[in-house]
Amino acid sequence: MSSPRDCAACGLCRGRTNVVCPDGDPASPVAFVGEAPGQKEDEIGRPFQGRSGKVLDKLLEEEGVPRSSMYITNTVKCRPPGNRVPTAEEMSACLPHLEEELQERRLIVALGRTAAKDLLHREVKLSEEVNRPTTVTIRGRKIDLVVTYHPAASFYNAKAKDALREAIRIAKTYLEGRGNASSTGN
Ligand code: URA
Repeated sequence: MSSPRDCAACGLCRGRTNVVCPDGDPASPVAFVGEAPGQKEDEIGRPFQGRSGKVLDKLLEEEGVPRSSMYITNTVKCRPPGNRVPTAEEMSACLPHLEEELQERRLIVALGRTAAKDLLHREVKLSEEVNRPTTVTIRGRKIDLVVTYHPAASFYNAKAKDALREAIRIAKTYLEGRGNASSTGN
């Protein structure tokens, strides 16, 4: 498989300034998966640099989780024009990269419905599934998965922010080596 840096597997490559490769600890047991790079991320080449990133960074700091201790990525590595939601075709073209990134993790946190749909290959009703531990099989390995709200949802929704905070707390237990999808109290 080619590196995402010179990937041309879908049309998003034509509008990008930078491929937005994952950030954080490449060996982390925990991966956070967002939707897609926005304008800031496209300019800088790193995920979660804009307004959503600021929300995420603040919650991580408040919960005592260094951003550098996690692995942070997106369903697609190139910015969709006008920040639209990536299409099923674009996500499927990027899936080999995402699977490569996620296959060795212990916990995946899907940030928002788009990431959840991409990982679970089905529609997801966030209000019914938020922070409910489940698993996903990636390249034959069963990995714990928690679906939660995207940081952008918490701009105007305190409940979404609380849910994201709770997902960070779950992630923290995995970073500390005591995580287990069935022991999160849900
Ligand atoms: N920035 C990202 O990197 N991903 C998102 O989903 C939103 C903003």
